[in-house]
Amino acid sequence: MAWKTLDDMDLAGKRVLVRVDINVPMEDGVVTDTTRIERIADTVYDIQDAGGSVILMAHFGRPKGKVVPEMSLEHIAPTVADVLGLPITWANTDYRDAVKEMEGNEVLLLENLRFNPGEEANDPAFAKRLASLCDIYVHDAFSAAHRAHASTEAISKLRPSCAGRLMAAELSALETALGCPKRPVVALVGGAKVSTKLELLGNLMGKVDYLIIGGGMANTFLAAQGLSVGKSLCEHDLADTARDILAKADAAGCEVILPRDIVVAREFAANAVNENLAPDACPDDAMILDAGPKTVAYIEEVLSKAKTLLWNGPLGAFEIEPFDAATNAAAQIAAKLTKAGKLISVAGGGDTVAALNHAKAADDFTYISTAGGAFLEWMEGKTLPGVAALSN
Ligand code: 3PG
Repeated sequence: MAWKTLDDMDLAGKRVLVRVDINVPMEDGVVTDTTRIERIADTVYDIQDAGGSVILMAHFGRPKGKVVPEMSLEHIAPTVADVLGLPITWANTDYRDAVKEMEGNEVLLLENLRFNPGEEANDPAFAKRLASLCDIYVHDAFSAAHRAHASTEAISKLRPSCAGRLMAAELSALETALGCPKRPVVALVGGAKVSTKLELLGNLMGKVDYLIIGGGMANTFLAAQGLSVGKSLCEHDLADTARDILAKADAAGCEVILPRDIVVAREFAANAVNENLAPDACPDDAMILDAGPKTVAYIEEVLSKAKTLLWNGPLGAFEIEPFDAATNAAAQIAAKLTKAGKLISVAGGGDTVAALNHAKAADDFTYISTAGGAFLEWMEGKTLPGVAALSN
């Protein structure tokens, strides 16, 4: 894959339209996690330092082509200004006038792109309207690159384009983890359901040396091997699929690691009475909520000989104590090996960042992706339209 970066562009005196992802969580009008905003800072500063003026464009939520006032980016603009430490002007729909009036180091933030049906339709006319605002287009939203939308795909054909700093960092971290990784490579995949991760498992088993399966997904694999999983979350109808995955992994020389011991409880509740048992000993009236210490010890053994780790999803019900224990322990082991320079660790997708933050391990990982769905599609081996558009 080859794409241009900001260093390949002459930005002096240019209007630079940057697609960012500031689809941040909000509660009662307050942004509760500013990570995605923090991660666009380098791109904004570097464009300004090179003499360009920055116009940001982004989506927020899924308004489906209609104006939904609570999804206006006007609500996010003050947080963007605080995080970037720059004056931000929010532009409603009169983009052109706002662009003409830009001054100094002011950054313009366009209204939620998805208020316009042309955005999700990848409409060339809407892309043309956006392109008319700028000299250069920068794609800095890896986490939205799995969408072929006007601001992520169509526009790249209309103006000289390049990857922003965050996009470049994401792509290079992912390339390090799965494109041309140092071996042995371990993938740790957790989460509730196998059915949502079939393609991902299929792609990974041909590329990694060890595949650790955790969370509710692991129960489906245990059940497929004839073990009783009691009342656990389990997709019994996927038993054949699970057996097929295990057989294919074996043929590909990929060792699949399932729980070697389990932690079970009678109720899904914090501090529920629990027991650590062998994987074949789950009582009929209990559910598996975490992997046990024997599993963690084996994960440690495997990670200690690994060079690269790709992490997606928790090993247990990490939201409720003490069923966060295996996730916490494995995350801390990975963080420690990374800090010691022995492991390259890349994580992303869905609950992963929350789980690693909860484990207080995120800061020591080599790279934590800001992407959810895009990270999963990339792990599935899919070409992301927004990335392909840049490569062209
Ligand atoms: C995300 O939050 O993962 C991205 O912003 C993409 O959002 P979407 O799933 O609504 O396209």
